[in-house]
Amino acid sequence: MQNKRIVLASRPSGRLVDTDFETRNEPLPSLVEGKARVRVVYVSLDPAMRGWVSPATNSYLPPIPLGETMRSLGIGIVTESRCEGLSEGDWVSGFTGWTEYLDVEPGALNVVPQNVPMEAYMGVFGLAGATAYHGLVKVGEPKRGETLCVTGAAGSVGSLVGQIGKALGLRVIGIAGTKAKCDWLVNELGFDAALNYKTDDLDAGLQAFAPEGLDLHFENVGGKPFAAALRNMKAFGRIVMCGFISVYNGDSPDEMPDMTAIVRRRLTLKGFVMTDHFETYPEIFKALGEMLQAGQLKYRLDIVEGLENAPTALNKLFDGSNQGKLVVKVSDL
Ligand SMILES: NC(=O)c1ccc[n+]([C@@H]2O[C@H](COP(=O)([O-])OP(=O)(O)OC[C@H]3O[C@@H](n4cnc5c(N)ncnc54)[C@H](OP(=O)(O)O)[C@@H]3O)[C@@H](O)[C@H]2O)c1
Repeated sequence: MQNKRIVLASRPSGRLVDTDFETRNEPLPSLVEGKARVRVVYVSLDPAMRGWVSPATNSYLPPIPLGETMRSLGIGIVTESRCEGLSEGDWVSGFTGWTEYLDVEPGALNVVPQNVPMEAYMGVFGLAGATAYHGLVKVGEPKRGETLCVTGAAGSVGSLVGQIGKALGLRVIGIAGTKAKCDWLVNELGFDAALNYKTDDLDAGLQAFAPEGLDLHFENVGGKPFAAALRNMKAFGRIVMCGFISVYNGDSPDEMPDMTAIVRRRLTLKGFVMTDHFETYPEIFKALGEMLQAGQLKYRLDIVEGLENAPTALNKLFDGSNQGKLVVKVSDL
């Protein structure tokens, strides 16, 4: 039996290219006692992966060593077990990496219930859902009636942030990169308004939406949209710092925000990383499940077929061509 996996071959500079990765086709050894074999069905492509392949050692996870399987979240099915706690047919989710098969000890991946479609664990019941809920509710502490702005609004985290905001009684404006995405936010997801950061005057749009300023802002991208939000905060406003995708490829931000606003407007900025909060996932997914059942959340996946396409597909996050949560389908369920 053969296994295909993709390893990190070199440290990229700028946008990822094919030669940054190498595909290895290798025979799979027999499963050893104490482990279970997992066939990967989906792997998740996340902006943070661009940081994991950089040499930086001052982040929340160490860099992926050259020659090792590319780190990623994913979900799969147990095909053979020689250990307690994992049975054939179990769905298991966690850090699978870019591989068709992996052998794991109990506890390395989480067994997840099979009462929702498997894809849901890549989206609303995955990192995106957890990040959106934890960031908005626990970090942002929103209050009914407040105004919320979210950047990267049509993305996997941002689209959920806005919808959770609506479910909690906020007025929500989203900032995204195309007219089609802005239309989707307002017409399909129920955002109150949306701005296109490539064509709209963001200051004019934010002032029209929130003449007294934004109470709460959820930052996913950095650069020009972040600078505009910062300029349009209400005094004592809160900013949830979730991500800065505009700089992950090593590009410099296109506009340096006026940080004096933090003092002038007495703002609170709080950063967070979801890997610090795994223990809160059950509580979060219960709350998201209730919103989903109440029809308050919509979600879409952008599914790329074939593990070999993962390196190229990752760039979709950086040119904005992903339509929803970006995943790679590695095998059929
Ligand atoms: N703190 C955490 O624990 C945590 C966890 C997960 C994700 N995140 C962060 O959340 C953010 C969104 O992640 P996601 O997984 O939901 O990705 P996503 O939003 O589904 O996809 C990325 C989107 O970012 C936008 N974008 C790319 N380059 C941009 C630029 N230069 N300026 C403005 N927008 C740009 C694109 O949309 P447009 O077409 O609108 O430009 C693209 O579709 C990322 O910064 C990520 O690192 C943080």
